[in-house]
This record gives sequence, C-alpha cells and structure tokens, in this order.
Amino acid sequence: AYVDTKDILDKASEGYYGVAAFNINNMEFFHAILEGALEKKSPLIIETSEGAIKYAGMNDPYRGARFFVNMIKDMANTVDIPIALHLDHGNNFDIIMAAIKAGYSSVMIDASHEVFEENMRITKDIVRIAHAAGVSVEAELGQLSGIEDNVEAAENVLVNVDEAKEFCETTEVDFFAPAIGTSHGAFKFKGEAKLDYDRLKKVKEVTGKPLVLHGASSVVQEYVKIAEEYGADFGGSKGVPADVLKQTVEYGINKVNTDTDLRIAYVAGLREFLAHDAKQFDPRKYQRKAMDYVKKVVMERIDILGSANKI
Ligand code: G3H
Ligand code: 13P
Ligand code: ZN
Repeated sequence: AYVDTKDILDKASEGYYGVAAFNINNMEFFHAILEGALEKKSPLIIETSEGAIKYAGMNDPYRGARFFVNMIKDMANTVDIPIALHLDHGNNFDIIMAAIKAGYSSVMIDASHEVFEENMRITKDIVRIAHAAGVSVEAELGQLSGIEDNVEAAENVLVNVDEAKEFCETTEVDFFAPAIGTSHGAFKFKGEAKLDYDRLKKVKEVTGKPLVLHGASSVVQEYVKIAEEYGADFGGSKGVPADVLKQTVEYGINKVNTDTDLRIAYVAGLREFLAHDAKQFDPRKYQRKAMDYVKKVVMERIDILGSANKI
C-alpha cells in the first residue's frame, strides 16, 4: 500500500530498527528495489532528489513529480508492503510544491546550509504547507562532512544537540537528519569510518524523533571489485561499514539514505554483462544482471538494518 513515510518511521523509531530509503532516477532501479523489499517483506521508502525529478520531467518539476507518483503509487497499491515516496534534499520551492501537489508521501526541506535561525524559519514554513496537505517533513541540521580527528572542525560541521532540540520543537518536523560525520558519494572517509555516536544518542534523547542518516552507503567492496574488473575506476572509495550502520540504528537512526551503493551495484552488473555478451542489445536483457545486483544490495541492507518482516 502507498503510505505516509511518518507511519513507517514512527514504527521504526518505537521498535529501534532502520528502514533504508533508496534513491531512484528511473523504473529499473524501482523494480529491482521493489523485488528485494517484497522478498524480505520490508517496509520501503523510495526517494528522489530534485535532480531526479527534473530528469524524469524533462526539466519540468511538476511533470517529474507526477511521473514518479504515477509510477510508484499504483504499484504500491497492488502489493502487500507499505511503500512511501519521499523528496530528498528539497531546496527549491517550486520542486517542493510540485512534490506535495503530485502526492509525495513526504518531503525533505534542506536548508542546512543556512544559519540556524533561517533554517528554522524556512523549515517551519514548509512544515505548515506540507502538513496542511497531509505530507510529512524531514529537515537537517549540520553539514554532511567527514570529521577525521579534528575536534574543532567537528564542532563546526556536526549537529549541535541544543539546537537540535529547539529546532525540532519549533518547526514540528516529523523526522530529523542530524549531521554526525557521514557524507554523500563513494569517498566518505580517508582512514577508519568515524561517526559521533555520543552526539547521536543525545539528539535521540532530546528530540525523541525518528532520525535520518544521510550519506549512509557502505560502498560494498564486492561490487566495487566487479566494476573495476570490467574497467571502472573507483580508487580510494570507502563507505559506512555494516557494523557501524547497526550501531547507529541501535542509537536511534531509523531512515538510512542509500544511493551510491545501488549505483555501484548497477554499473558493476552492467559492465560485467556487456563484457560477456557482445551481441545483446535488448535493454530488458542487458540490464537484468545490473538489476539483480541492485536487488541483492537492497536485501543485504534490509538485513543489516533489521526491517525484514516489519510490515
Ligand atoms: O543526496 C543525493 C543523492 O545521492 C542523489 O543525488 O540525484 O542529485 O545525483 P543526485
Ligand atoms: P549515499 O551517497 O551514501 O548513498 O547517500 C545518499 C543520500 O544521503 C541521499 O540523500
Ligand atoms: Zn542525503
């Protein structure tokens, strides 16, 4: 069924498990993710960035938002797992309105680059509009950036616990993304993966909200290796290891944003298949191995986060 993201995440927060939110740009990723979630009987959050919406709508956000709602809502209403559709990193007012109007389950307003008061003001405005339309809201505090060993730098980029409390109370956001040391993409850490668990625990304590971890891909080496065997070059890539993810879930993370892992698995499968079959030109055939790898990553992730059979 097509549901509110808040329903999925409130349950996850009560039960202390994580639900992956998977980014998509097209139908093939959606199908592969859905296959994995159905097999695991897991609740599912699909999310699209502003870039994905512009891409799908051929530069018109209203067309793009409707495109994704039409593709996902109908499918969701024919299967037995809860599925929500979320706007990831909403920042452009038109795109946020397009998502709300088209029927997204939830939107993120990402004003984390603004100073605290301004972030709060913008977020509060979006919450008022979104809630009036029955759409739940995510917002973020802090910068998505690695912290390494520099305590002073960490203080500047990571979420501040007192601000997190005031922000959640004032804005009435439904779920909250605290920056605790992760970053987007395939190159997250130079040395060991280091996240600020203490900060995370305190944010959970003072906000009581379902919490979101951005930049949460693990950069699964199995797929990096396959991709590189067939010509890719992802030298130095490094993600958030599975045991670290489990720890963050134990300390209160409930929505685990995942894009890079799917992209790497897909390109690994695609490269591998094409290298072995020079005659194939039917996309339904040459994309299948790529989709199978995406599906496998999805199922592994569901197991790591503990959302199997939570429907
Ligand atoms: O948060 C960013 C996601 O990984 C998607 O980014 O669609 O803008 O490449 P993109
Ligand atoms: P990754 O790049 O680690 O997959 O993070 C995705 C994300 O945070 C989307 O909002
Ligand atoms: Zn993100």
